[in-house]
Amino acid sequence: MIILGIETSCDETSAALVENGRVILSDQIHTQEIHQKFGGVVPEVASRNHVVKIFEVLDAVRKEAGMPLEKADAIAVTQGPGLVGALLIGLNTAKGLSYAWKKPLIPVHHVEAHLYANMLHYGDLPYPFLGMIISGGHTHLVFVSGPREYEVVGRTRDDAVGEAFDKVAKMLGLGYPGGPVVDRLAVEGNEEAFAFPVPVPRDNPMDFSFSGLKTAVRNVISENEQAKKEDICASFQKAAVRALTQRVELFYKKQGAWPLAIAGGVAANSAVRAAFTELSRSHGVPFFVPPLRLCTDNAAMVAALGYDLFREGAFLDYNKALSLNAFSSLSFA
Ligand code: KG4
Ligand code: ZN
Repeated sequence: MIILGIETSCDETSAALVENGRVILSDQIHTQEIHQKFGGVVPEVASRNHVVKIFEVLDAVRKEAGMPLEKADAIAVTQGPGLVGALLIGLNTAKGLSYAWKKPLIPVHHVEAHLYANMLHYGDLPYPFLGMIISGGHTHLVFVSGPREYEVVGRTRDDAVGEAFDKVAKMLGLGYPGGPVVDRLAVEGNEEAFAFPVPVPRDNPMDFSFSGLKTAVRNVISENEQAKKEDICASFQKAAVRALTQRVELFYKKQGAWPLAIAGGVAANSAVRAAFTELSRSHGVPFFVPPLRLCTDNAAMVAALGYDLFREGAFLDYNKALSLNAFSSLSFA
C-alpha cells in the first residue's frame, strides 16, 4: 500500500510517497529560507510560500518516485499542531487531491508523526519504549506501551527546547534556525565557561522548563561583552542537553529502563545524540534516533504514521474529508 504524505505545519513544504508505512519511495523537502532574514518564522510569509511551492514539491515527488501520484492508495496530511495558515495550505491541497482522485484522507498529528521517523529508519520499534519528541515547537516525553498507545509523562511548561536554541542564537546574532549553528559553534567552545541552570518544575519534575535558561543566557550576554560566542553556545547546550537526559534518568529510576527513541529537529543535535547514546549504553537499553534528514519536518514521517492510522480505520472517505479543519494546537494522547 502506498501513502502520499503532505506536511506544511511550519516552514518546510514537504511531500513524500511511502510504501507500507516503512519504505520511502520519494521524500521532497523544501525549506523556506526567506525566514532567515526575519530571525524567525513569519506565519503569513510561511503560508504564502507553501502556496507557491506545494505543487512544485509534489511534482518533484512524482518524478523521483517515477509514478503518478494518483496511484497512491491514500493521502496523509498534517492537521496540527502548527501555524494554522500554514497547515491549511497542506490540508486544502490534500482535500483537493483526495476529492479529485477519490482517495481516502488521513489526518495526522505532527508530534506523533515525528516519532514515526524512527519506524522509517529501523522498522517497528520494540514496545514498550520511551519516546522523546524535541523540536522547535514541542518538548514531550511519552511512554509508548504499544502501537499508538501513548502516555505523556512530561512536557514543557514554557518554551520548547528548539525554541531555546533559536532564541539563544538570535541573542548572539547567529541567525535562524539557531540549532544547527549553536551545535557547530559549541564544538569550539568551553562548556564549563558558564554555569547555566537546569530548571525543574517542583510539582512535576518530569516536566521541562527552558525560559529560565534562556534568561540566564541573556544576562550573561548583557553583563559580559567579552564572552566568546562559542563558550556561551557550549555552556547553554550542555545545560539544555542535561535538562533532557535528566528527565530520562529520573523516569528510568522510577519506572525501570526501557528502550529510548528520540525524534524532532533537536534530535539532530550532535551533543543530544552523543548524550543519549551514552545514557542508553550505560543502562543497557536500545537507542533509536532518525537520520538527520528525518529529524526535522518531513512528509515521509506523516505518510508512515498515516499507514498505521489507515490500517486502524482512522481515515475519511474523499466525500467526507472536505469538512476537515486544521488546528494550531491539538492534544497528543
Ligand atoms: O522538528 P522541526 O523541524 O520543527 C518543529 O516541529 O518544531 O524542528 C525545528 C527545530 C528548530 O528549533 C531548530 O533550531 C532545531 O529544530 N534544530 C536543532 C538542530 N537542528 C535543528 N537544534 C539543535 N541542534 C541542531 N543540530
Ligand atoms: Zn516538527
